[in-house]
Amino acid sequence: MTVKIIVGAQWGDEGKGKITDILAEKVNLVVRYQGGNNAGHTVVVGDKTFKLHLIPSGVLYKSVTCVIANGVVIDPEVMFQELSTLREKGVEITPDQLKISSLAHVILPFHRMLDSKQESDRGSNKIGTTGRGIGPCYTDKIGRVGVRVVDLLNKERLARLIRQREWDQVLGTAVNLDEVIESYVAFGQRIKPYVVDSSLFINEAINSGKHVILEGSQGTMLDIDHGTYPFVTTSNPVSGGACSGAGIGPHKINHVIGVAKAYVTRVGEGPFPTELNDETGEKLRHRGAEFGTTTNRPRRCGWLDLVGLRYAVRVNGFTEICLTKLDVLDDCDSIKVCTAYRLANGSIVTEFPLDYDEFTNCEPIYEELLGWKVDISQITDYDQLPPTAKHYAAFISERVGVPITMISVGSRRHQTIHLLEV
Ligand code: GDP
Ligand code: IMO
Ligand code: MG
Repeated sequence: MTVKIIVGAQWGDEGKGKITDILAEKVNLVVRYQGGNNAGHTVVVGDKTFKLHLIPSGVLYKSVTCVIANGVVIDPEVMFQELSTLREKGVEITPDQLKISSLAHVILPFHRMLDSKQESDRGSNKIGTTGRGIGPCYTDKIGRVGVRVVDLLNKERLARLIRQREWDQVLGTAVNLDEVIESYVAFGQRIKPYVVDSSLFINEAINSGKHVILEGSQGTMLDIDHGTYPFVTTSNPVSGGACSGAGIGPHKINHVIGVAKAYVTRVGEGPFPTELNDETGEKLRHRGAEFGTTTNRPRRCGWLDLVGLRYAVRVNGFTEICLTKLDVLDDCDSIKVCTAYRLANGSIVTEFPLDYDEFTNCEPIYEELLGWKVDISQITDYDQLPPTAKHYAAFISERVGVPITMISVGSRRHQTIHLLEV
């Protein structure tokens, strides 16, 4: 029995989908524990590209059961659309292969409307959300006025929960409650065969010796507690969120795998010390195809930030790191790595500043390493990497104090270097 948590180490889009898919080959269960369809996890197999939003990234193996656990927020319309897109691509998913928590909260059309209303009300302080209703749905969950999957199976309760929220007042516009109630009752009937007590299901699997991956979405810097608040999402992507989001005890966890890009990207607003608003940033965006999987927005790009990565190691307790997209740096003559920040008052810090103004106004201090200037995208053996690429990986590992167990050099499964068995 092994239980591994996969967590984004930066601001999301680190390549969690690819890493989960690779590790899923050897496991029985892949569980999504938080977030919703704000996530976009890409898995490339052969000539097919799968963009997964709610369905766990283990779905391409018949031998894997996928679980959407209690910590996730589910938009049923999006989920059924995703299942039908998968079907069109030859992946048919039965209720045997997909289990959905009865306790997961449900995104209503009103949550989506409120998400965009709140963003426009914020004006120049907007967060740049994905507009999927994620924030308003989690807000209702914490406010104890949310709708859960179990409620979709009980028409009276569902109608009462939806009506009591007084959506026309919240949204400042008339809404058709009856229509939404009817359509969500219908979703309830479709979702019913998939619904389980997911904590019980996952714990029984672990206790019977099964291998489990808990797949996080977003990333550490988007965490509601530990991220760059208020420019964050509304859940806990960090490893601690996996236990509450899946209903398992921390002593069951064997590995906490941080997925870190060899540089950094961010979608949406908020501070980003190593951001490159120049030709180099443009080159990273172009070479890394850095456009959002969910919203297609151009991702902001910058150099690797080891202050942030060390912080991610700490708050997640990473036991190892998978370093992704190293091939994107193939073209660079030299590569900068941020190892400290200079604050506005002139002091130099190596721990992540928690004060929002300090972080927003800090300046990155870089060390510069040599590039390798060769195509590494077909290398599968660590020893074959150019010495400067090995040095880059070793430098990162040494500075953050955890081993790198995998290096990804392309979006396909075979474009992966395994350093140590995870
Ligand atoms: P996730 O949200 O963390 O799963 O990441 P995304 O799927 O949103 O974004 C990662 C993008 O990079 C996807 O288009 C992947 O196919 C791609 N990708 C993953 N690993 C690598 C890699 O090592 N090299 C390159 N060039 N692309 C990669
Ligand atoms: P994956 O799982 C990158 C960002 C949004 C916005 C902020 C809040 O693919 O890594 P939300 O809609 O969650 O309220 O938006 O979080 N964001 C992501 N950025 N990858 C993601 O998911 C993201 N999910 C949300 O851009 O800045
Ligand atoms: Mg993504």
